[in-house]
Amino acid sequence: METVEPLLRFDNVTVAYGAMRVLHGISLSIYRGEIVALVGANGAGKSTLLMTVFGQPHARAGDIYFDGQEITHFATHRIARCGIALVPEGRRVFAAMTVAENLNLGMTALISEKHWSDEVGLEQVYTLFPRLWERRQQRAGTLSGGEQQMLAIGRALMSRPKMLLLDEPSLGLAPLVVKQIFVNLQRIVQQGTTIFLVEQNANQALRLAQRGYVLVNGRITLAGSGAELLVNPQVRAAYLGEA
Ligand SMILES: Nc1ncnc2c1ncn2[C@@H]1O[C@H](COP(=O)(O)OP(=O)(O)O)[C@@H](O)[C@H]1O
Ligand SMILES: [Mg+2]
Repeated sequence: METVEPLLRFDNVTVAYGAMRVLHGISLSIYRGEIVALVGANGAGKSTLLMTVFGQPHARAGDIYFDGQEITHFATHRIARCGIALVPEGRRVFAAMTVAENLNLGMTALISEKHWSDEVGLEQVYTLFPRLWERRQQRAGTLSGGEQQMLAIGRALMSRPKMLLLDEPSLGLAPLVVKQIFVNLQRIVQQGTTIFLVEQNANQALRLAQRGYVLVNGRITLAGSGAELLVNPQVRAAYLGEA
């Protein structure tokens, strides 16, 4: 019997800041071609979980596997070169630089071996986000919140990752803008990049994702298809504002 190997796998991972444990025995798997959402309230440990993939902070116990390799103790730059890109919370574009300069940084910052063409990456990003093409000479600081999020995603894609980790891309954006960005996430997956999406915005994230996990105080309490979790009474009570 053939078994399909996950692209990213957490096996019983525990993470702490000093003496304070924030993630307790996390196990989860993400397969190629999926969009998987992890939803949880503020402070549940979502950002920590994503940052642990890059070894900052390191897991105290348990193992992380990516693309068939154990990466738990790899240095951060080495993990990026395995083909994982993170779009951090709060977007963090370089405000004084133009859109084009921000995108160019995306490839030079992450990739040391240039075995792929810069032009192809740029074209892919501009095709995905025509707005960025229109504004390529504009300073990133003058973009709207939604455009800055597109730029942050575009910059991460410049390294042509196998997997994109997104930390609350919907934060502070109007529902319509979130919808536009989430449509693009679907296209990114169709183009071959697997997505792990971390969100407080359970409603839109679970609509988009095939599968989801619910994180409560550093523990996964529920897992299922996006559709199942959306109608789960516990999820509805905790995240969708229903009593
Ligand atoms: N650098 C840090 N040092 C100490 N505690 C931290 C640090 N970052 C986050 N925490 C704590 O870890 C817990 C989880 O935080 P975080 O991963 O940011 O959650 P989320 O992204 O779900 O809001 C919170 O209690 C937070 O205060
Ligand atoms: Mg966070």
